[in-house]
Amino acid sequence: MNANNSFWLAEKASSLATYVDGTFYGYLGFSLVLVVIISLLTIFFVIKGRNQAQTISESSPCKQAMIQTGWTALILIVLAGFFCYGLRGFIKLQVPPNTALVLGVTATSAAWQFHYLDGTSPDSLIVPVNLPVKLEMSSADNVHGISIPSMRVGKGVVPNRKTVTWFNPNKEGLFAIYNTSGAADAVLKVLSEEDYAHWIKVKFDPSIGKTPEEYGLYVYEKQGCNACHSVDGSKIVGPTLKGFFGTERALDSAEAVIADSAYVVRSLLEPNVEVAAGFKPTMLAYPLKAKEMNALIAYLKSLQ
Ligand code: HEC
Repeated sequence: MNANNSFWLAEKASSLATYVDGTFYGYLGFSLVLVVIISLLTIFFVIKGRNQAQTISESSPCKQAMIQTGWTALILIVLAGFFCYGLRGFIKLQVPPNTALVLGVTATSAAWQFHYLDGTSPDSLIVPVNLPVKLEMSSADNVHGISIPSMRVGKGVVPNRKTVTWFNPNKEGLFAIYNTSGAADAVLKVLSEEDYAHWIKVKFDPSIGKTPEEYGLYVYEKQGCNACHSVDGSKIVGPTLKGFFGTERALDSAEAVIADSAYVVRSLLEPNVEVAAGFKPTMLAYPLKAKEMNALIAYLKSLQ
């Protein structure tokens, strides 16, 4: 996903990566050293054995036993060290800290869904940097598995069961989330504390950072006005709202009204009192907040 991947492992972006990488590189290095030593010794003894085919080793059984015990003990101690280091990482991986941000995850063959406390599910997993994140996962259909290589976590995600994993991202950026069953992948977005706080704020108040017209468009789409009203002049279920504001509107009752702010508000609160000529009174009432009404009005005004 990015250029920081090493030859062996994905970019390190989690506090737990030290344990995983330490154990991996430790074993790899140790195995390489053993391979070199054993290969060199093998070659040495083959040559020595060929030249001294008739002589048999004279060293005492006691000395041989000591060499063998020492050699075995040395390897045992080194491996026990790796085991303890790996076990520590493994235990840490199994036990999420109770300060962790808890998020629900649902796997399906079509996509990953990430559930936040307020019930929203953005299309990617969005978390702040340096805060432990605990994922409570389940599958809606088949057996899946989540893998986030940069966080060094992977876990089965199965139906009718909750599995848990956690990580503590210590680097901002975009990281890949894979489905080990081969289904759709997703993206993990690690934001700075400020960006995350801003994201949360916008989640709860979508008007932040938007002009009244932009927020109006947001409300228009969110409320589904576009299902019945076009903004390009075409007639769908309801009249088009292109060039609507400020014009005279013919009503079913043969009267006419000026489409001003008050008319828009009346159309939203009591849509079937003044019915546009040629249309059926099928629009439901939209008791929106004043802020949303004003934004909608600003947006409708801009559709000239
Ligand atoms: C289910 C379809 C439907 C939806 C959804 C809908 N409307 Fe309507 N709307 C209509 C119909 C049909 C009319 C015309 C009959 C009437 O005036 O009641 C209408 C009329 C209006 C009018 C008056 C138009 C005129 O020419 O006088 C306005 C303004 C309006 N809608 C705004 C909205 C807004 C804003 C939303 C979203 C919050 C919305 N509508 C959602 C169907 C819909």
